[in-house]
Amino acid sequence: MNICVVGTGYVGLVTGVVFADLGNEVVCVDKDERKVELLRSGRSPIYEPGVEELIGRGMEEGRLRFSTDLARAVRESEVVFIAVGTPSLPSGDPDMGQVEQVAREIAGALNGYKIIVNKSTVPVGSGNYVRDLITRYAAADVDIDVVSNPEFLREGQAVYDTFNPDRIVIGATNQRAAMKIMELYAPLERPMLMTDLASAELIKYASNCFLALKISYINAISRLCEKAGADVTLVAKGMGYDQRIGAAFLQAGLGYGGSCFPKDVAALISTGDKYECDMGILRSVQKVNDAQPVHFVSKIRDTLGGLKGKTIALLGLAFKPNTDDLRDAKSIEITALLTKEGATVRAFDPAAAERFESLYPQLYYAANAYDAAEGADAVALVTEWNEFKQLNLERLRAVMRQPYLFDGRNIYNPARVRAAGLVYEGIGRPREPERA
Ligand code: UGA
Repeated sequence: MNICVVGTGYVGLVTGVVFADLGNEVVCVDKDERKVELLRSGRSPIYEPGVEELIGRGMEEGRLRFSTDLARAVRESEVVFIAVGTPSLPSGDPDMGQVEQVAREIAGALNGYKIIVNKSTVPVGSGNYVRDLITRYAAADVDIDVVSNPEFLREGQAVYDTFNPDRIVIGATNQRAAMKIMELYAPLERPMLMTDLASAELIKYASNCFLALKISYINAISRLCEKAGADVTLVAKGMGYDQRIGAAFLQAGLGYGGSCFPKDVAALISTGDKYECDMGILRSVQKVNDAQPVHFVSKIRDTLGGLKGKTIALLGLAFKPNTDDLRDAKSIEITALLTKEGATVRAFDPAAAERFESLYPQLYYAANAYDAAEGADAVALVTEWNEFKQLNLERLRAVMRQPYLFDGRNIYNPARVRAAGLVYEGIGRPREPERA
């Protein structure tokens, strides 16, 4: 099938390269010429395991192209995926500016029946809105169908998720369009759910917000654990065995970040307001999430007896492991809080340090975790990269000025940390070892 994917961000690029790998003729379009040039040279503008291999293979086999010419790509395609960004506006609503722009350009390029697929995360009602826009701006009577096909991939494992989705949701207004999109996904042999447009659009938000809710729920429980002397990792483990609850997304920590959960929770609250449907439950999710980094810094401040003049080593800057993405990364807020109170920050991240440096050029950027910990009063683990799980804690302790380890993601065994001569403080875990 001839496909065009507009937008080469995480969703667009991964969708495009995977469809090419499945045997389709794919053109990935972006208005950013530099990005398109980079892609044509076989390199990925995003840090994502496996993407460059797929770009290389797709181009080599002649099924994958990159272009800035949206009109031509639309004319050559049967199916056009819209996968442009919808960042948050101050109101919490997603900014639909790029979607609108693309819809207008598609309208101007139509030369026959097309299926327009919304892959960007867009509020309920957007499918109809895109159809109306295209119909309004098209020169002649148009024959199009608009389909909602939300994406559920995670950064850091986007290629795997795209080949192995838990489900494929196809929201359409008629069989003709739904069947065509089903055909595209058939080789994956994964469960497919056909719905109306509005339901598909809401499935995406309802899913992300539910996962955010799970995280805030366990973070709220972690606060109670701290007061009551319980260990949230054990509480979560015990909860997770219940199949109705499940173990995933019960990892207490510094809260959720990234480009999706904070934005989608805000957007669903705003959608609720529009439909006069109070989403108070999601306001609580936000409140718990906002409090986590502030609470983490308070722990460091209280333990060290103030932050002025103290040196803190931050391990991990990306919003989660296996990405260099800093959108809504907890490291940003934690650095702001620490430096505001006069602490010196020494930072290390395996992939995101360079990007972070443009936000905070005054920090010391270490070559590795041990270098970051040199002379530090405390080490604060912010992102749970695998390499931090394997640290030699004795070596870490040996270079530090004071022995405090703040584990913002609960990745360490407290007894093991204490055995290395460090004082351990996690999230929702007892301060002192349990007395026998
Ligand atoms: C999320 C969803 O998981 C994807 O299904 C969805 O497609 C994507 O948003 C999107 O809407 O595009 P992503 O933001 O890439 O994916 O990352 P996640 O792995 O879901 O992590 C989100 C945040 O939650 C991270 O900051 C992570 O540290 C945090 N988290 C996750 C926790 O604090 N605790 C957990 O137990 C799990």
